Amino acid sequence: MSYNLLKGKKGIIFGALNDQSLAWKTALKCYEEGAELVLSNAPIALRMGEINKLAEATNAPVIGADVTNMEDLNNLFDKTMEHFGGKIDFILHSVGMSVNIRKGNPYTALNHEFEMKTLDISAVSFHKVLQVAFEKDALNEWASVVALTYIAAQKVFPDYNEMADAKSLLESIARSFGYHYGIKNKVRVNTISQSPTRTTAGSGVKGFDGFMNFAEAMSPLGNATADAFADYCVTIFSDLTKYVTMQNLFHDGGYSSTGVTQQVVDKMA
Ligand SMILES: NC(=O)c1ccc[n+]([C@@H]2O[C@H](COP(=O)([O-])OP(=O)(O)OC[C@H]3O[C@@H](n4cnc5c(N)ncnc54)[C@H](O)[C@@H]3O)[C@@H](O)[C@H]2O)c1
Repeated sequence: MSYNLLKGKKGIIFGALNDQSLAWKTALKCYEEGAELVLSNAPIALRMGEINKLAEATNAPVIGADVTNMEDLNNLFDKTMEHFGGKIDFILHSVGMSVNIRKGNPYTALNHEFEMKTLDISAVSFHKVLQVAFEKDALNEWASVVALTYIAAQKVFPDYNEMADAKSLLESIARSFGYHYGIKNKVRVNTISQSPTRTTAGSGVKGFDGFMNFAEAMSPLGNATADAFADYCVTIFSDLTKYVTMQNLFHDGGYSSTGVTQQVVDKMA
């Protein structure tokens, strides 16, 4: 069911890789709610070709950009504004990658060059996106920018490895840039902290099934699905949440506020 919450709004969605991706579900939902979209992903992801299906379904052009590359980002924002014939109302940064996790390096034996790459892709890229938008004055007043994060920024999940540090930095960038962009032209910037969700990036974390089952048992409402994420994200992009900014918003079925559940106590007894 559509509520037309994003009627007349225009947005960029980063990070739709396949139909499991949080960005993919969100793009479909934004389109359903009346938004016009531009889709972006890394050139290597575009070569896989899946995104063309989403482009067709949402009537959106695909413009490649490595989120760590300022030249790519400048080109993306120029082409996007040309396509829309004006400024942008929302952005989803749904991008993350850990080189050390991919290589199987534990947290206590990181390759620090890989770590820098992880931080660049998963966190500093958010600053780069915001800075390019800021310098080009590309966002309308009350525009809404969201990045995806995970509770490993606040609590230790050993196998989340260096991504925990990346997410802490990402959340801090949202707060800091949210201040400056709020003052400049009332742009809001938030992170949404999502339950574990079966996607390509999610499943790359060692012991992911354990993560997911544990979170399910520890959440009074159960894990939030990717579709539920898309619904929530639409509300944050909409005009109904205009004064929410510089927040880390938990979308996790209550997990972050739960010490223990009866289900887990029974298991431990
Ligand atoms: N899946 C989960 O359990 C979960 C939970 C909380 C937060 N998140 C976060 O959600 C976001 C999206 O991940 P997902 O789970 O949908 O997985 P996904 O693998 O579908 O998406 C990750 C995306 O990042 C893109 N990407 C990687 N390097 C890039 C680069 N250099 N330039 C541009 N794009 C690049 C990939 O191509 C891919 O589209 C990530 O930030 C992830 O950390 C995921």
